[in-house]
Amino acid sequence: MSEPILQMQNISKHFGLTVALDHVDLTVYPGEIRGLIGENGSGKSTISSIAAGMQPATEGTMKFKGRDWAPKSMTDALEHGIGMVVQERGTIGGVSIAENIFLGNIDQFSTAGFVNRRKMNQAAKEILSLVGMENIDPALPTTVLDLQDRKLVEIAKVIARKPDIFVVDETTTALSQTGRQKIYDLMKEQKKQNKSVLFISHDLDELMEVCDTLTVLRDGNLIKSLTKEEFDEEEIKQLMVGRELKGDYYRSDYDGSYDKEVVLKIENGNFGEELKDLTLELHKGEILGVGGLSSCGMHTLGKALFGAVPLQSGRVTAGGQTITSEKTAMQHKIGYVSKDRDTEALNMDASILDNISIAGLDKIAKHGVITKKNERNLVKEQISSLSVKCREPKQAVSELSGGNKQKVVFGKWIGCDSEILILDCPTRGVDIGVKQAMYQLIYRMKKEGKSILIISEELAELIGMSDRLVIMKDGAISGEVTRSESLNESAVIGYMI
Ligand SMILES: Nc1ncnc2c1ncn2[C@@H]1O[C@H](COP(=O)(O)OP(=O)(O)O)[C@@H](O)[C@H]1O
Ligand SMILES: [Mg+2]
Repeated sequence: MSEPILQMQNISKHFGLTVALDHVDLTVYPGEIRGLIGENGSGKSTISSIAAGMQPATEGTMKFKGRDWAPKSMTDALEHGIGMVVQERGTIGGVSIAENIFLGNIDQFSTAGFVNRRKMNQAAKEILSLVGMENIDPALPTTVLDLQDRKLVEIAKVIARKPDIFVVDETTTALSQTGRQKIYDLMKEQKKQNKSVLFISHDLDELMEVCDTLTVLRDGNLIKSLTKEEFDEEEIKQLMVGRELKGDYYRSDYDGSYDKEVVLKIENGNFGEELKDLTLELHKGEILGVGGLSSCGMHTLGKALFGAVPLQSGRVTAGGQTITSEKTAMQHKIGYVSKDRDTEALNMDASILDNISIAGLDKIAKHGVITKKNERNLVKEQISSLSVKCREPKQAVSELSGGNKQKVVFGKWIGCDSEILILDCPTRGVDIGVKQAMYQLIYRMKKEGKSILIISEELAELIGMSDRLVIMKDGAISGEVTRSESLNESAVIGYMI
């Protein structure tokens, strides 16, 4: 085998008392696509961001192309051959797409202090063409782009610098199948040129398909590296969680029964192309799944049921009362977990404590007084029952890993005794250990008589969890199936497309 291109030796990283990485060795070879997998908080982003110059290690050494490697910044690393598309930061709002692409590098287009925008935009166009976005005007602000296109701009920006190692951290979660395919193509192209990829994803199927080698991390330790011939789904899952996944992944019963009582209802709801005369009822104790392609209107349906989208006609009712706003929805004990949890569901500037307690203030305010003690107790209860991995309730929510952030969102709504929960892609971007915990929690809530609506782009989880499953297409319901052992994806997918 050839010489490694990157050697990371004995790498540790501490954040205060948190040991994010504990003496990890990682080697990458030319022409290798290496996958990193592990539960949330296992250290995947930390190790890759150290290689890519985002932060220094607390301990350990690195060699890149045979030389000592200690990049001063991400720009420095990119210049010398390691480029990373980061997990949770995107493009910067308020400046143009071209300016985003050439951030920190705009001087190349200036003469005598004036930026030649025409030249810069032309160069940006060429870079955008690398990800099939040549039809987008680079002079527009990035805010006109949706999440997928913003991610693709970041990818283009990195790949345009022809890195020897292309690091992709959890980017595919934000992408549709076409967006994903673009990334896979770029990775294959890297490999063809004998360059390397470090690929982090939650999607084990995807990793096993795309990668040559897979490294499993757990709690900051490197557990095992496997080559393609050694890939075995069950073994990898076990290595990730450090134990056999005991019990059922989804629920195990095929009962599918629930109360007749309707607790939440939308009648002839209209909202542009998203909802077309849509009628749907959620019953007490029911887990109702809503599936479809991401553009089918189901995300808007979730918002409408929570009073967050003003219907053009039709109405939403809970217990006979009309829901007209998020406030009335909350008064009717409706909770809502947004798909876009970072910007909608959590206040990233606040602590875990503040985020969980905000929706439960009524419950805390017995006799009109919110005592600090009540607040802390409610929050502690949620942190422990959901096993949120954190140092303390006052820790900033922005420091938590994706799955733990999602648990905080759950805790917020459960803590205030929601009777009805609307969950939009609740397990998006979380790994199997946390997913299983969430499925168990959702099932427990059903058993307690709560009513749950799950909107998801993952058919397997909808089939696995729902009592009843409706499929949407072009703003309307195109099919409905009930829980049964024989139900499979191919029986449902026809309603979607
Ligand atoms: N900037 C930071 N401050 C404090 N703790 C952090 C920071 N970044 C990561 N951590 C912690 O380090 C651990 C590893 O995190 P991370 O590398 O993001 O995991 P992964 O990417 O595998 O989900 C987690 O416990 C996380 O909370
Ligand atoms: Mg990460």
